Amino acid sequence: MSASTFVDEKRLAQRLAAMARIGATEKGGVNRQALSKEDAAAQRQLVQWGEALGLKPSVDAIGNLFLRLEGTDASAPPVLSGSHLDSQPTGGKFDGVFGVLAAFEAVEAIVASGVKPRASIDVVAWMNEEGSRFAPGMMGSAVFAGARELDAVLAVVDKHGVSVKDALRDVRETLRDVPERALGERVSAYVEAHIEQGPHLENEGLTIGVVTGIQGKRTFAVRVEGEAAHAGTSTRAERKDALLAAIAMVQALADALHDAEDIVKFTIGRFDVKPSAPSVVASSVDFSIDLRHPDSNVLQALGDKIQPICEAHAGVCAVRVTELSKAMSLDFPEPMRALIRDAASGLDLRHRDILSTAGHDARYLHYVCPSAMIFVPSHLGLTHCETEYSSSSDLTAGARLLADVLSKLAA
Ligand code: GLV
Ligand code: MN
Ligand code: MN
Repeated sequence: MSASTFVDEKRLAQRLAAMARIGATEKGGVNRQALSKEDAAAQRQLVQWGEALGLKPSVDAIGNLFLRLEGTDASAPPVLSGSHLDSQPTGGKFDGVFGVLAAFEAVEAIVASGVKPRASIDVVAWMNEEGSRFAPGMMGSAVFAGARELDAVLAVVDKHGVSVKDALRDVRETLRDVPERALGERVSAYVEAHIEQGPHLENEGLTIGVVTGIQGKRTFAVRVEGEAAHAGTSTRAERKDALLAAIAMVQALADALHDAEDIVKFTIGRFDVKPSAPSVVASSVDFSIDLRHPDSNVLQALGDKIQPICEAHAGVCAVRVTELSKAMSLDFPEPMRALIRDAASGLDLRHRDILSTAGHDARYLHYVCPSAMIFVPSHLGLTHCETEYSSSSDLTAGARLLADVLSKLAA
């Protein structure tokens, strides 16, 4: 019997529910930001489940957590599967954690099938995919893939000045019995299961999305420097109002990046005004830019407009634009997609090819080994919010498909 036969819907649902209690919000979502005590508790929980199943845990220097099912051939590079346990501040119960627990369930099913894989299979929880506390996200997978320097990432601070290095030390304390492993080991393949985070599969009555690739994304930090002044006494001529300058920049950017087709995705998700006092002219504004487009040439051209537009609207203030990350669109290799398509057909799961317009850790693994992704439907496409929902049967279908795909890749 194939491994998928041994996937247990109830067990998967119970584990998802247990994880959803860690960092649960009042409105039914999750706040489990990277390297918080909730993130540490979720990792601890995963290690406990892994130990009960006989999986070997390990962590690397950037805080990626692995649980290994040993293969029979120690010289074969492992197959990796997982996603992330961290969430947005008002995140849902499935983004990321589903991919980790689907991989865990798939491995448990493979164990139950009695067939020992030739290559080891590592369930992985990548550190800080979301990038809400420490920006930009996908830190763990980027460092694993050699796309970002370990020391530079460890030096990133959150808005309270806490560094990744210090936060990581606290999480490591919770996992002190877990051995360390070298960064960036050779990998034979990577498969990430994830909720779609869009409405297409649900609208079309399909269960599985075979992900063709991931659209490109550039992120920027903008700092506008003005001067604090008295709201009652300073004249307009004297003021260097960082807020008014920032608003002019934001409006000009929104106009320049507007497309009638609604393909360009332009988001300012963070906007911090200082000193943020009612009777003081704003001395500085920091804001973020998240820009996405499936065509890498268009993404390049649009992203290149950002700095000149900000400079043109700075007025008497100073502005500094820093590009934090730049990731072009990518296509997953066709043989990996075909493997998933065939396995889905074998399980009678209705599927279609689909582009991921959200980012995922698979983006970085793509440059390390043959990689692929499996999507399951998201109700109404709602995500990065507390009402995010996917049905237990769809989640289980995704885990069943993953079990068969991992079995084949590790055989
Ligand atoms: C991932 O969470 C993204 O922002 O695409
Ligand atoms: Mn995610
Ligand atoms: Mn997310």
